[in-house]
Amino acid sequence: MTIYQPDLVTVVDVIDETPDTRSLRLEFQDEATREAFGFHSGQFGEYSVFGAGEATFCIASPPTRPGAIECCFKLVGKVTTALREVDIGDTIGFRGPYGNWFPVDEWRGKDVVFVAGGIGLAPVRCVIWNILDRRDEFGDLTIVYGARTVQDLVYKRELQEWQARDDVTTVVTVDPGGETPEWEGRVGFVPTVLAEVAPSAANAVAVICGPPVMIKFSFPVLEKLGFADDAVYTTLEMRMKCGVGKCGRCNIGSVYVCKDGPVFTAAQLKKLPAEY
Ligand SMILES: Cc1cc2nc3c(=O)[nH]c(=O)nc-3n(C[C@H](O)[C@H](O)[C@H](O)COP(=O)(O)OP(=O)(O)OC[C@H]3O[C@@H](n4cnc5c(N)ncnc54)[C@H](O)[C@@H]3O)c2cc1C
Ligand code: FES
Repeated sequence: MTIYQPDLVTVVDVIDETPDTRSLRLEFQDEATREAFGFHSGQFGEYSVFGAGEATFCIASPPTRPGAIECCFKLVGKVTTALREVDIGDTIGFRGPYGNWFPVDEWRGKDVVFVAGGIGLAPVRCVIWNILDRRDEFGDLTIVYGARTVQDLVYKRELQEWQARDDVTTVVTVDPGGETPEWEGRVGFVPTVLAEVAPSAANAVAVICGPPVMIKFSFPVLEKLGFADDAVYTTLEMRMKCGVGKCGRCNIGSVYVCKDGPVFTAAQLKKLPAEY
């Protein structure tokens, strides 16, 4: 068996999040692999459709819920188009978990602020459920999530579930012009809404993932709120091929995003060449 040989997984559920974004729930076919499989929040895998190739997605379900893994992908090209054709009962390939992870255990006792945009909620959702499943170990939780339009919001049912809980503050927004007449959430760009919500930075960490422009304008907001660069974590989505540090596809300077990342602090990113 080579390091590139995937495990076989069965698609056990398919959920359309938006017109171009879909979630899959996957179960390892080999019982021993299913039992032994473990991972950390923030790690990713290579998902393969036989004959079409592999695509890199985060593991979007939390490690606190073993037995199956979930991914959420946006239709952009060859492999994601092929993945769009798979249905419940079909077999695809998975290899992983790869990469580093969010140091959730180090955050015990701290407040956690989640900032996400568009499909960037997928990796953040893994951490949100991981922490909600261990709720007593953490302080205040704040989620600020936005998408271009109401239609583009992913995990709509879970956003409602989080909004209904009184142990997490969940603020959902859409870009100006993206609202519908029925929309009852905020209207405004994520960095603006984050500044309005103004979560305390005292004894807190922030997890941020979304389009580059959202991250670019959210970093200064977090800084102004008092978050130190080493308390702000994000995950990069460079193009990858092998996922295991062999092909050189994902490097930024001397850093291999697949092995040294994909999770980095804002402090670490500031030291990298500006090509990510
Ligand atoms: C660690 C990591 C985690 C990721 N997690 C997710 C996830 O959870 N959900 C998700 O939908 N996507 C995720 N991505 C991005 C995903 O890997 C690509 O969108 C996917 O591989 C595209 O495959 P494709 O064959 O359909 O597209 P291709 O046919 O290969 O490409 C289609 C178009 O998309 C562009 N493209 C492809 N990959 C990337 C990329 N990584 N960054 C920018 N542009 C790209 C290409 O340049 C091209 O223009 C992640 C990437 C990384 C590295
Ligand atoms: S994806 Fe091959 S070295 Fe990182």
